Amino acid sequence: MRWVQGFSITGLGFLAYPFMKVLMPGLREDGYLDVEFGELRPGEFKSVPWLGRTVIVFKRGRRWLTDPSGLVELKDPESLNSEQPTFAQNTARSYRDDVFIFYSNCTHLGCEVAIDPAQTEVPIQCPCHQSGFDASGRVLRNAAASLNLEVPNYRPVSANAVRLERSRPT
Ligand code: FES
Repeated sequence: MRWVQGFSITGLGFLAYPFMKVLMPGLREDGYLDVEFGELRPGEFKSVPWLGRTVIVFKRGRRWLTDPSGLVELKDPESLNSEQPTFAQNTARSYRDDVFIFYSNCTHLGCEVAIDPAQTEVPIQCPCHQSGFDASGRVLRNAAASLNLEVPNYRPVSANAVRLERSRPT
């Protein structure tokens, strides 16, 4: 019966793909999604549905490029305990300083966080229990959330585009 199960799962995948394609127009059959962000100016961001969650691409301007860890206390400033690809385990938590890509779910109980570009040190806030995060998604020491915001699997594919992928790159 195992082959029947395998067939059913494969068949479901084929059936689901057209619907997923409507929800995520850039979705490729082999399960990745290219995201262009060249239109974003500093302080702007865009949301992308990905794997049942939302990924946010935040274009950081000059005022977010200074590491605020001297101004605000962080729980995991080096991101040693937080989820991100290896290349993003740095203070910017990104492959480049002016772009931050992250899942929108708060690491406390999963609420959707909000970005307030008017804020410099703590531009990302969770509306549920007021956890604050810096522009690299690093959680403040006094927050209810214990981990930094999760960074998805991705890699750059051009100057202003990344490819979201299912597996975690190294
Ligand atoms: S869910 Fe974000 S602080 Fe509780």
